[in-house]
Amino acid sequence: MIPLQVTLVEVGPRDGLQNEAQPVSAAHKIELVHRLQAAGLREIEVTSFVSPKWVPQMADNTQVMAGLQREAGVRYSVLTPNLKGFEAAVADAAHRPDEIVVFASATEAFSQRNINCGIEESIERFRPVVAAAHALGIKVRSAISCALGCPYQGEVTPDEVERVVKLMKAIGVDHCGVADTIGVGTPKRAQAALERALKHYPVDRVSGHFHDTYGQALANIYACLELGIHTFDASVAGLGGCPYAKGATGNVGTEDVLFMLNGLGIDTGIDLNRLIDAAAFISGVLGRKPVSRTGNALLAKRMQAVT
Ligand code: HMG
Ligand code: MG
Repeated sequence: MIPLQVTLVEVGPRDGLQNEAQPVSAAHKIELVHRLQAAGLREIEVTSFVSPKWVPQMADNTQVMAGLQREAGVRYSVLTPNLKGFEAAVADAAHRPDEIVVFASATEAFSQRNINCGIEESIERFRPVVAAAHALGIKVRSAISCALGCPYQGEVTPDEVERVVKLMKAIGVDHCGVADTIGVGTPKRAQAALERALKHYPVDRVSGHFHDTYGQALANIYACLELGIHTFDASVAGLGGCPYAKGATGNVGTEDVLFMLNGLGIDTGIDLNRLIDAAAFISGVLGRKPVSRTGNALLAKRMQAVT
């Protein structure tokens, strides 16, 4: 039986916007987060504390975190690749994240391109980050990139995914996210990778992160629902891509996932209409239509209603 309730982790402000070439102001990023929380999102990945030379779009991380009007019950997370990033993320005690995300690749080649070191070395960088986060009562989530395919290596096996799952578990990471960074996964392969995470983490600590490059993300999410997995990342308006994964399009659109979950009678606590407001807002800022099918369909309907 598939789950009755699902948690959607909104990653648009980070995974979505990190790849934008045009500048997006901190004020617009903050407004986006406010609209997402107003729509009922309870987990929001806000920004990343990575090198501004590598990802300039996230250089305003401190300003964005400080500008949030937080809502009770919402978990705000940020990406931290190393202790330097973690220390910057927690420096201002009044605006600390509730959760941090450490990210490693299932393949050596992508690890080198994304964070300039091998897998084992990246885990060693995370070890003190995990300890420091736990000392402050901050949860740690992992993202295992390229779990279903790698732009440099090609095919990725479940064994390669499980290797990183075990390394993350060994350093005390609380939650295991499995990511199809380039969106090449198909349902059976998604199940095979996520099953490896389930061997080491309970189902409420495992999530799927699917990019929609080949239009497989909803099918992959459904396949994971069949395993009982009930936490998925998604990106409003289908924003994004990864700067180190050429050709990778955005994460699956949050409104596309929500439309499917609503149709399945699965509770998320998210209001589709208000989510569309958030999608319309950020699409207006970027000056283009959403990538998500549901976003476009419902915005077209709204236009019809006013003409
Ligand atoms: P590096 O060049 O190897 O690091 O970068 P370094 O330790 O040699 O430092 C070089 C410079 O960066 C130094 O500054 C450091 O101070 C600075 P300089 O002396 O040259 O002026 N530095 C930092 N500055 C700010 N914040 C930091 C930080 N660390 C060092 N945290 C590093 C290593 C990891 C920093 C770099 O490779 C980096 O920032 N990479 C960006 C990775 C990234 O953000 N990728 C996109 C997110 S992952 C993703 O999207 C996938 C995901 O969505 C899941 C999926 O779909 O797969 C999560
Ligand atoms: Mg991603």
